[in-house]
Amino acid sequence: MASNQFGKQGWTPERIGNLNGKTFLITGTTSGTGFEASKILLSKGAKVVMLNRNVKKSKEIIAILKKKLDNTVDVSFIHLDLAKQASVQKAAQEIIEKTSQIDALICNAAIAQVHKQELTVDGFESQLGVNHYGHFKLQGLLYPLIEKSKGRIVVVGSEGYKMGIKTIKFDDINWNNNYTPNNAYSQSKLAQIMSVYELQNRLKNAGRSTVNVYACHPGASRTSLIKTSGSIMTRFIWQLMKWSPFVQSAEKGAYPQLMCATEPNLDQNCFYGPTGRNYWTGPVGECKLESHAKDKTIAKKLWEVSEKETNFNWNI
Ligand SMILES: NC(=O)c1ccc[n+]([C@@H]2O[C@H](COP(=O)([O-])OP(=O)(O)OC[C@H]3O[C@@H](n4cnc5c(N)ncnc54)[C@H](OP(=O)(O)O)[C@@H]3O)[C@@H](O)[C@H]2O)c1
Repeated sequence: MASNQFGKQGWTPERIGNLNGKTFLITGTTSGTGFEASKILLSKGAKVVMLNRNVKKSKEIIAILKKKLDNTVDVSFIHLDLAKQASVQKAAQEIIEKTSQIDALICNAAIAQVHKQELTVDGFESQLGVNHYGHFKLQGLLYPLIEKSKGRIVVVGSEGYKMGIKTIKFDDINWNNNYTPNNAYSQSKLAQIMSVYELQNRLKNAGRSTVNVYACHPGASRTSLIKTSGSIMTRFIWQLMKWSPFVQSAEKGAYPQLMCATEPNLDQNCFYGPTGRNYWTGPVGECKLESHAKDKTIAKKLWEVSEKETNFNWNI
């Protein structure tokens, strides 16, 4: 892999210029990398629209951000529960009514390591439903506005894409058989990443090149992930790991998504994240992406399944 294009220290938010007049939408900002990304974007003068399922926490977060930064920062939230396709539809409608411009939609929210198979109200395995189908539909519904704004779509994946079965279990996509938390989480993150490259291909073939779409991951970061969803054992192990030097701060975990949302001259074909050992920590730059994440046959099939399941046609 070529040396880091941003130098030895990798990409850092110091590279972000004044974001006055720019609007960023981020899913899942009540904790972790989404919260940190919002804070940094606001500190650079951007408008941030947070898309969260928890109203109370969202109000608290807004108050915290205003207190930490400045009471005049332009931060608001719209209710969005990615586990409910109807909520995604409603949120997208509200966003379109209230927002005239999207410079970047950052698909950050997720649930992980759900210890027993759970189904969403729409009948999807919960991690696939929230992480992939929820964001898939949100991106599609907001695409016209993002295109009009010459904006970006940023998908926060995970190095987990190379764990589990390394493909999509089309014959049992909801894991009705042989469910394991890690296999189902890994499949959902792989699905998110594969859809990024499939969307790029589709846009390219359709001659529509105004929107850039990026995939990144936060490495291993000290956030609230797994805190409530994992089994007791998974939570215990993760709690111990979180305070080891192999895991970085949530703020550093936000750098890859911030880079993909703001930095000019990135390569859409890449997968960005921390480049240190195991890609868990270290300078942010390009990470090696295993070939199964770009399997075009699987990606095309996944796209078709996703359109059918979400009852949404991208028309590209
Ligand atoms: N932390 C890591 O080491 C790590 C590693 C690999 C990948 N990632 C990825 O990094 C991203 C950020 O996660 P994080 O580590 O910052 O975790 P986090 O602190 O748990 O944050 C996750 C966010 O997603 C929100 N969310 C969950 N379900 C939702 C739903 N149905 N609708 C709307 N929002 C929902 C949560 O909101 P509530 O407050 O309502 O729960 C929270 O704001 C995720 O995509 C994750 O897969 C993290």
